[in-house]
Amino acid sequence: MSFYQDYNDKLAIEQWNTFERGAYRTIKVTPLSPALGAEIEGVDLRQETAPEQLAEIRQAITENLVLVFRDQKIAAEDHKRFARYFGTLHRHLLAGNSTLSARSQDPEILAWKTGRSSRYTAGDAWHNDVSCDPEPIWGSFLRVTRMPEIGGGDTAFTNLHLAYESLSDPIKRLLDGLTAIHDGRQAWTAGYGAEPDPGQTFPASEHPVVARHPFSGRKFLFVNPAFTSHVVQLTRAESDALLQLLFRHVEKHLAFQAHIHWTPDTLIFWDNWATQHHAIWDYYPFERWGERVSASLGFPPQQA
Ligand SMILES: [Fe+2]
Repeated sequence: MSFYQDYNDKLAIEQWNTFERGAYRTIKVTPLSPALGAEIEGVDLRQETAPEQLAEIRQAITENLVLVFRDQKIAAEDHKRFARYFGTLHRHLLAGNSTLSARSQDPEILAWKTGRSSRYTAGDAWHNDVSCDPEPIWGSFLRVTRMPEIGGGDTAFTNLHLAYESLSDPIKRLLDGLTAIHDGRQAWTAGYGAEPDPGQTFPASEHPVVARHPFSGRKFLFVNPAFTSHVVQLTRAESDALLQLLFRHVEKHLAFQAHIHWTPDTLIFWDNWATQHHAIWDYYPFERWGERVSASLGFPPQQA
């Protein structure tokens, strides 16, 4: 925080911390930190979810961005049914790719295993999942199916509404109307050494640098170091400098972030537009396995 002047960083946090939250009747919502994250009780993910409860879960994700459901002993079909309430299930290109250590038989489930022989772990950098898609997934639903015996393996999240709102007004004006390319080859080929399987290409898409969330109307910053290669309207030098400023802005502000701790049979549902996340690989050489299902809204983030 700035200590000698009220820049927007302080105002952004004040606004986020004091906006009026709704009341809940069918679920219990316990916030985990001021920036983001809430534990949700009163939901059984093995069952179909009633419309009133779904509406409250939608309200809770808009207000908290990351929802944590504990003690949910669910099967893959439960996982997929719950995600399907929030959009069209996404088929990840890497779900069947030979570079990933846990090839899934189901294209709607992205499975991974991190262990002693892993060269990398999935998501070991700040990112939005698959932002290179023409319609980047909005909801991600992750289960950890094997926890490291030593503990650790938390996931860090950051709030991109706060990231945008905390920028100074001249920088906000600069970002208005800019678009950026998000390139799957940057994240997966340069990052993981994954090549497309025969007949595949990794997508690259153009998205607004600042977008407006369709549910809350709030703006959010939408560039990430894993996928975003350049800003279309700027020279290479200008684009590199601006993206570095924005990436650093997101990663350095601990006040926008929270670490979410996994326990057995936890499912975490996050808003993949308005948050970035970062897997924490602090448990090597112990193993951690997971399965992700994701839902698309059927449209990309809209220019703010
Ligand atoms: Fe991820």
